[in-house]
Formats: sequence, C-alpha cells, structure tokens
Amino acid sequence: MTSFPQLSAEEASSYLWPPFTVDPASLQDFRTRILNFYARYGRKFAWRETNDPYHILLSEVMLQQTQTNRVAPKYALFLSLWPTFRDLAGAPLDELLFHWKGLGYNRRALNLRKSAKMTEAWGWTIPSDPELIASLPGVGKSTSAAILAFSYQKQAIYLETNIRRVLLTCFFSDREQVKDKELESLLALLLEGVDDYRQWYYALMDYGVLLKQLLPNANVRSAHYAKQGRFEQSNRQLRGQIIHLLSDTGAKSSDELMRILAHFTGERIEYCLSQLCTEGFVQETDGVYRIPRE
Ligand code: ADE
Repeated sequence: MTSFPQLSAEEASSYLWPPFTVDPASLQDFRTRILNFYARYGRKFAWRETNDPYHILLSEVMLQQTQTNRVAPKYALFLSLWPTFRDLAGAPLDELLFHWKGLGYNRRALNLRKSAKMTEAWGWTIPSDPELIASLPGVGKSTSAAILAFSYQKQAIYLETNIRRVLLTCFFSDREQVKDKELESLLALLLEGVDDYRQWYYALMDYGVLLKQLLPNANVRSAHYAKQGRFEQSNRQLRGQIIHLLSDTGAKSSDELMRILAHFTGERIEYCLSQLCTEGFVQETDGVYRIPRE
C-alpha cells in the first residue's frame, strides 16, 4: 500500500513541479507549495502530537532506519511499557531487545537506554542545549535537530532521508555528488521564511514520501549515498538472528547456536558473537551465551 492512497495518479503528478532556485521568489513559491501539499495530505502520527523530549527521541530513533507503519505500534508499546526516561533507564536489556524485535538495528535500543540513564542528571528530560543533546549516544546531527525543532521549536537544521530527497529533486535536479553541507545551507535559507519549524519539517518529509512513490531515488545523487554491501547486510542479519534467538529461547552454547544457524559458517557466527559481546548485547560465561539483564 502506498502512503497516499487517496491521491489519484493525475493528482499526484500535479505535485511534480519544475525546478526551483535560491531566488527569494522561487524559495517562497516552494514553501507555499510544500505547505499546501501538507495541508491537504499531511500524515498524522502520535509522535507529531507531542513535544515531550522522551517521546521525540524515542520516535526519531525508531524512525532512523525503520518505516512509519512498523514504528507506530512499537512506539505505542514502548510508551506503555516504559512511559518515561526513568522507566526506560531501568528496563532490563533482554526485555528491551525482545520488544525491539521487528525494528532492526538493535544498537539503537542499547543507545536509547544509555541516553535514558544519562537524562537522570538533567531531571529525566533533555534540555534544549545542543551540546548536551549531542552528548547522547547514537544521537547525531539530525536526531539532535529533531529534538530542538520538535520539542523546543528551535530553528535547527533537520536533514533526513526524505528531506534530502525533496531538496535534491527540487533544487539539484541537474547535479551529482551533492554534499549535505549544500543542502543544509539551503535548508537554512528556507527556514528564514518559515514560522512553524515543526510543521515545515513534517511537510517536507511527507512530500519526500510522495516523491519516493513517484520518481527514481534522487538520493543516489547525494555525495553521501552508500549502498549497503552484501557482507555487511548478511552480518547484520546474523547478528539480529542471534539476539532474537537468545532473547526468545534463552542462553545457548556456541555449538547449539551453530547447529541452529547452520546456514552461516562457524567463523561468521564466532565473529558476530564476539562483536556482540564487546558491544554489550551478549554475555558469555563458561562457553554459554545469553542476553544480560543489565
Ligand atoms: N515525524 C517526525 N519525525 C518523523 C520521521 N523521522 N519520519 C516520519 N515522520 C516523522
């Protein structure tokens, strides 16, 4: 199913516009078109109805590499299980990873819990201080900007994948290898004419989702575009399988793991197990591997 099923093909194509420039009139035309699109077709999500920094961080981290339809039920589940940073800070790792299942990239769950623990020093919230926000593990430029813009209505530069797609399509249609620096400068220019930063970014993201449905991937023209290699892909898959196996069925020896995961070589399994142990996802005692609670 597409994200905009109510849009006919004809109507959708009326949202494909000629290229824009950084001329003030063109920038204003772009802003108006984007906001008109959003007024008509903007998507509604629970995380767009809150400015609580915990809710914003949780949703942004979940949304980093996972689609909104997968995130929505997990976001609700996490908030019911762990309604505050304080609750998440005390979550047992095995439970956390068990419920993270389906979202992928388990490191994000680990970082979220670490971040939650760090917020104790700030009264179990995140202040609107860019330096403190950037000190949270797994919080890069874009998540940090999301917290500033969505929790605090600050004029922060939020560049994520759908927004990148919009800018590359609308302003850089004849360019290859476009650097994020250029897109960030453009975003800053655009923000000058915007009142509601949060609504502006939601609008850009939603338009980006429409473009994804209508056009070939413009993000390949980003200088930072990297296709994931097969080896990386399958190690990630194996790491995920090990974590789910241990969290669903309890501790296992490496022999047992190798029997169950027989479609991977023993060498690969050992490699991923040692990585997982170093990173704190898995603990080994006397040749038995388990997900630690702490
Ligand atoms: N709303 C707020 N942040 C979002 C994101 N990263 N993706 C989709 N919708 C969002």
